[in-house]
Amino acid sequence: LMRHVSAVSPLSQLKWNLWNCGIRRGVKVAVIGAAGGIGQPLSLMLKLNPLVTELSLYDKVDTKGIAADLSHICTSSTVRSYFGKKQLIGALECASIVVVPAGMPRKPGMDRSELLDANASVASIVAKAVSNACPTALLAFITNPVNTIVPIVAEVLKQEDAYDPKRLFGVTTLDVVRAKTFIAELLGIDPQAVSIPVIGGHAGKTILPLLSQCDPKLELDSAEKAKLVSRIQDAGTEVVKAKAGKGSATLSMAYAAAHFVNSLLRAINHEENIIECAYVQSDLSEAEFFASPVLLGPEGIEKNLDLPEMDEEEEQRLEDMIGQLNKEIEDGVKLVAC
Ligand code: NAD
Ligand code: LMR
Repeated sequence: LMRHVSAVSPLSQLKWNLWNCGIRRGVKVAVIGAAGGIGQPLSLMLKLNPLVTELSLYDKVDTKGIAADLSHICTSSTVRSYFGKKQLIGALECASIVVVPAGMPRKPGMDRSELLDANASVASIVAKAVSNACPTALLAFITNPVNTIVPIVAEVLKQEDAYDPKRLFGVTTLDVVRAKTFIAELLGIDPQAVSIPVIGGHAGKTILPLLSQCDPKLELDSAEKAKLVSRIQDAGTEVVKAKAGKGSATLSMAYAAAHFVNSLLRAINHEENIIECAYVQSDLSEAEFFASPVLLGPEGIEKNLDLPEMDEEEEQRLEDMIGQLNKEIEDGVKLVAC
């Protein structure tokens, strides 16, 4: 009702939203970009998650068919379809978690930074709508270039007086998923038995897997370590090349995002000791946004944990990438300012 009344002040809109959502129970997860290559398998995985009570599928294109299809799966969550500009607010209202795989993917030969022009506006539109519809939701952005998109979202939320750094995440889980897989291949063990932090950002050399902190321990020489680091850093490009013009990683990304959202859901449910690497506002390095292990709680980030220890080569890699990361952050801040 309130949102159809013109000249409603932001404060009364916020009060209305909080009241309206307060009388509803359960956890609504909104997928923005639900019709896409990531959005569809991610929505499927979320439909299978018993911690989700309502699944809101939004895209700029029609999501009716996808919602009808998913709604026949015999799990207890409700699926709702939203599409087009006018339905974005409805898709977001009362969401506890908003996960965003909307935007253009890379083609062979492109850098992630070349997606900025196409995807900055998508992120801004979503951030603005979130500030109206669900300002207390946890926000997980998958859209590339993650290194720049997250600072853009932060700036837009600041303009709307709705920025809480504890609630904004760039999803870098796929880098951890890949690191676990490639290390397990080398060691001939189950990938689920591997634990490894991946810090920095989500593009090229800003992706920094800390092999020295791997559990189980890795016994590799310097050249072998460099080769493994490059494989992890270039894994996105490996998929882009293999798909030969038909997009980038979608299925492994859906798996990674479903894992990350599940961790947010567990934290919302007051489960303790939930730790994930994510790209967040940070004071742990010289970059204002930085991926590192964060302790999650019901309100988002409970604690940004200390940077893991690093060996000399990793310290050097961190020093070598920080300029690129800072530039990519600055690009986002400048874009919103002008
Ligand atoms: P896709 O083209 O298959 O799907 C994107 C979807 O977004 C489409 O359905 C499109 O209609 C929708 N969309 C576009 N603009 C929108 C808007 N304003 N509102 C709502 N929906 C909108 O692409 P994809 O393969 O699913 O990739 C999506 C994004 O995720 C890309 O930017 C890609 O680079 C990124 N990505 C990130 C990671 C990561 O690790 N963070 C991994 C893989 C892909
Ligand atoms: C990935 O790492 O797979 C994504 O960032 C998509 C890409 O463009 O590589």
